[in-house]
Order: sequence, then structure tokens, then C-alpha cells
Amino acid sequence: MDDLLNRTRAAVWHPCTQMKQLEAAPPLAIARGEGPWLIDPDGNRYLDAISSWWVNLFGHCNPRINAAITDQLGKIEHVMLAGATHAPVVELSERLARLTGLGHAFYGSDGSSATEIALKMSAHFWLNAGQSQKNGFISLKNGYHGETIGALSVTDMSLFKSTYSPLLRHTVQVPVPDARLAEPGESAEAFALRCAAALEAHLAGHAAETAAFILEPLVQGATGMAMYHPAYLTRARELCTRYGVHLIADEIAVGFGRTGTMFACEQAGVRPDFICLSKGITGGYLPLSAVLTTDIVYAAFYGDATTRGFLHSHSYTGNPLACRAALAVLDIFEDDRVIAANRLKSIEFTAILSEVAAHPRVCHFRHLGMIWAFDVADATPGFSTRFHQTALANSVFMRPIGGTVYVMPPYVTHADEMRSLAKATLACLDHPDV
Ligand SMILES: Cc1ncc(COP(=O)(O)O)c(C=O)c1O
Repeated sequence: MDDLLNRTRAAVWHPCTQMKQLEAAPPLAIARGEGPWLIDPDGNRYLDAISSWWVNLFGHCNPRINAAITDQLGKIEHVMLAGATHAPVVELSERLARLTGLGHAFYGSDGSSATEIALKMSAHFWLNAGQSQKNGFISLKNGYHGETIGALSVTDMSLFKSTYSPLLRHTVQVPVPDARLAEPGESAEAFALRCAAALEAHLAGHAAETAAFILEPLVQGATGMAMYHPAYLTRARELCTRYGVHLIADEIAVGFGRTGTMFACEQAGVRPDFICLSKGITGGYLPLSAVLTTDIVYAAFYGDATTRGFLHSHSYTGNPLACRAALAVLDIFEDDRVIAANRLKSIEFTAILSEVAAHPRVCHFRHLGMIWAFDVADATPGFSTRFHQTALANSVFMRPIGGTVYVMPPYVTHADEMRSLAKATLACLDHPDV
């Protein structure tokens, strides 16, 4: 195992990591997985409490997803999607269209590429519509949409953004309806509507040069699971329609049941102009993203002029293996009635976490669907690393974001596993060094 850790430090540049810190806190070597468990080369087991960066829905080594990919391997592993097509990508597009009400699916390889696609498609739509000045973007304060140059331009997290600011395009951030920021006595809904008024004020002055408003519906994940009232989404939809600005729902983290409905937008009864999907789409098996959009957007690109078309591509666009994994995921949702089952699980898990919620160090305990989060009032620098290490010592894999601890387990997690997780979380909170 030591050999593997030395070799990873020498040869692998790990994501989102100051590599020097791996000297003191080496990464966890994983040999295999089983349901919600990660297993190291010595056979030690760790509960994957954050679904491997929120991608894993139905556990590691899921027999049904394994079987779908294995079956596809015997047919065709990959064919380019320009000039060719295949059954898995067609079936997946049809099923996603039925689920989202958006009939045209364009594929990318990861969340950031989905953001890039949606931004480019929106601005190109306005160009094709004869409104080339509509090419600006707005997003929510503290939002996260990925880290490629375009996606980072609409992301608002200085830790990731400020170093690269000379490379980025100017975008505008509007107030975020994060319920924690409401005035004392102000309801989450009233605060959401107050923030929507600020959005309206911006749109009233700048709609003519704005292509789209991009947001993470209901939960801003990367900033630390900030949650907000669906009234904001409903109002944002109305305002975007009224001012002629596209609404892009980045459901990369919250899609596929995370917030309790298949897509978070459903809770506000809204249909965006674009929806970005990734992460859970393949159950955490293979990199795939999709951007779905309306007939109106699609029609604006359709014509005889080549450059009116959307000339964007990634080599692995619509990869058949990834599409088969995604189809297996949708089958599991249907066959096991996952959304309904999770509704019960969500209530049960919240009860299991009640002792955590009541812990004196915990504030702003919050929960939506299959996401739980809280802030640690007295967290000092290094808290996240110390919590992570202590959780590992208690057989749980967790990575707090700054002083925010969150739990986003695979949907196959059982109540007894959740009880161990609650126990481990309490052990971390009570640990004198954390
Ligand atoms: C809301 C949201 N959008 C976009 C992304 C970027 O996705 P990826 O890391 O696959 O590029 C993420 C990743 O965490 C995300 O949470």
C-alpha cells in the first residue's frame, strides 16, 4: 500500500489538491467497492458517505449496471456521434426527453462540458435570432458550474476563480436566496422573493445584452450545500420569460433524485430552457453529460447554413457504454420506484441524524431529499482535513467543505449503515483535535 501511495504522489496529479499536503494526509487507496462501501487493499471498509463526489446513486459494483455495460461491450464500445448513431444514445435521449419535457439532447463528457455547451448554445441561439448583443451571462452568488474557462466564468467561488480571473469572461452575479442569509424572522420564501426582486432589477436594465441566467436549482452544492426556497425558481422562470433571457438549470449535482424529486426544478413546477445533467446520470460509472433543450432553441439552429448549426463536439460524445449505464440507471429508478422509496428513507435518515443535529457544535442543520448538511460554528483552519481523517478512522469517507459537513449517500445505503455514519459524525464532532 505504501508503494501505491508513493507512486500516486510521483505520477498522479490529484484534482482539487495541493499535492504537498498529500505528504501529511495521503489519499485513501481503494481496491474495490461493494454497495455504499469502499474497500482498501487490506480489506478495510469505508462508507462512501458522499457518493464519490455525488456521482454514485446505486452503490459500487452494482450488478444491474455492470450487466448493462458488459452486454454493450460485446456489441460496440464506441462510435463517433457525428455521421453515425446507435440505439443506446437514441433511447437515452427519448427517455430523458420524457422525463424533462425537453426534446433535444446534446452530449458531453462531464459537468463542465455540459455548462460550456449550454452557455454556447444560448448565445448562439440569440445570434441566430439576429440578436448578437445578447451574449452576457448571469449566475447566482456563490454558485458553482465547473472549472473550465467558460464554466468558471459563471462560477462564483473565489478559491477556484480568482487565480484565473485574467483568463475569464466578465459575468454578473445576483443575490443568492440561501436561506441562512435571511434576516431574523424572515421566512426562506420571503427571502427568496426578495432576492428575486434583485434579479428583476438586473434584468430590467440588462436583458438586451443577457443571453442566459444559470443557476443550481434548490441546492448550491460546491459552496457548501446552501439550500433555498423553490419560490425563487418559480419567480426566476417568470422573469426570464418576461425579459427574454434563457433559464439554464444546472442539475448536474441535484438531478436524478438528490433533492427528493427526479429533478429539482419539478419542486417549483418550472421547465427551464436548458437543463444540464451529469454525475448521477450513469450512476457514477462513466463520464457522461447531457444538455437538453426546447423545440424553439433547436429550431433556431436548423437550416441550410452550416454555421447556423451547433458546431461543437467532444470525441466521446454519446459514448454507447456510458449511455447503457445511464439506461440501466433509469431502469432502476423505474423498477424499484426509487423516488417513492427515497421519500421514506429520507424521513428515516433524518431521524437517525437527529442527535447530530442537536450537537452543540452544529448550526444550520438542513436537509432536502437525500442531502443533509450542517455548519460547525467553531471550525478553525484545517477543520475539513482533520474531520476527514477522523471520519476515516471511524470507517466513513467524508470530505467537509470548509466548516460545512454534509452527507450525500448512495441511495442503496441502509438504516444500520446510516446509524454507523451518525455515530462516526458524532465521534468527529466530539474529538478534541477536530
Ligand atoms: C452544479 C455543478 N455544476 C457543474 C459541475 C462540474 O462538473 P464536473 O466536475 O463533472 O466537470 C459540478 C461539479 O461538482 C457541479 O456540482
